[in-house]
Amino acid sequence: LKRIAVLTSGGDAPGMNAAIRAVVRSCAYHKLECVGVFRGYEGLIEGDFKDLDARSVKNIINRGGTFLKSARSKGFHTKEGRQKAYDHLKKAQIDALVTIGGDGTFTGAIVFNEEHNFPIVGLPGTIDNDINGTDYTIGYDTALNTVVEAIDKIRDTANSHNRLFLVEVMGRDAGDIALNAGIGAGAEEILIPEQNLGKDRLVDSLKRSKKSGKSSSIVVVAEGDQIGKNIFGLADYIRENLEEYEVKVTVLGHIQRGGAPSCYDRVLASRLGVGAVDALLAGERDVMIGLVHNKVVSVPFKESLKGSNKIDLELIRVADITSI
Ligand code: F6P
Repeated sequence: LKRIAVLTSGGDAPGMNAAIRAVVRSCAYHKLECVGVFRGYEGLIEGDFKDLDARSVKNIINRGGTFLKSARSKGFHTKEGRQKAYDHLKKAQIDALVTIGGDGTFTGAIVFNEEHNFPIVGLPGTIDNDINGTDYTIGYDTALNTVVEAIDKIRDTANSHNRLFLVEVMGRDAGDIALNAGIGAGAEEILIPEQNLGKDRLVDSLKRSKKSGKSSSIVVVAEGDQIGKNIFGLADYIRENLEEYEVKVTVLGHIQRGGAPSCYDRVLASRLGVGAVDALLAGERDVMIGLVHNKVVSVPFKESLKGSNKIDLELIRVADITSI
């Protein structure tokens, strides 16, 4: 093993820069060459590479986004695209690849390895926390903090006007961001795709809490939730069935993807980045490096993609009890 390439793919996440930095510096530490690939699998197909040394990644641990840029590559879904990517890797004498991203990134890696027998190790980089085989994904903690900070601000104005706010958060098909940020921000109700409780129960619960003396309410809605998918329609339904509150909607959107990574994400990214190079040196391939019970572990890509439903029932109980 002499030369390792690194790329970020799919939706960006805070901490991706810290992960790249750890991979590059780990290569320098082990006297391996490191090559950055721009724009994820797109850059692989086009051969958009740049040699990186330890100093190339200075002053980026604190920066959100990814300096290598990211893309959701259509070309990598085709055999021709993957062949071009392989040809560029061979031409640049690259022996192995570290891919930082989410489920789409790992699915691409599996297919590429099956076709071209090329060593790839992945790092979980997504705000959604929807990857198996790791307790947390890189970017998730920062996104949680962004959401909680935003809801704290919404709470101020909700309380001044006795209003009900529906706050939509990201997460694709997973409710991790909604559930944990909802508990952290003291939400009244949390709607997640893993638990469909229905509109009527929501309205009943909001009526009950109003009666119990609450003057305003925050409902956190995961973007993938059944009844929350159309959040403006849900707001109309609540308006029709609950006169007690004036209802407002806030969609937090892409602010959840940006910003300086939290210390937790920087440390997680650093540990996993070092773990990726360690794994390649140990001859591992086709695996993702994750953190389980605070230990760095490697899990086969296929395991990491098995269902995203990691929601802990204990958390749902805590949310119910603390919002009474
Ligand atoms: O996977 C990260 C994520 O931000 C999801 O939470 C969201 O559903 C999706 O990406 C949005 O994708 P895009 O930035 O391509 O609109």
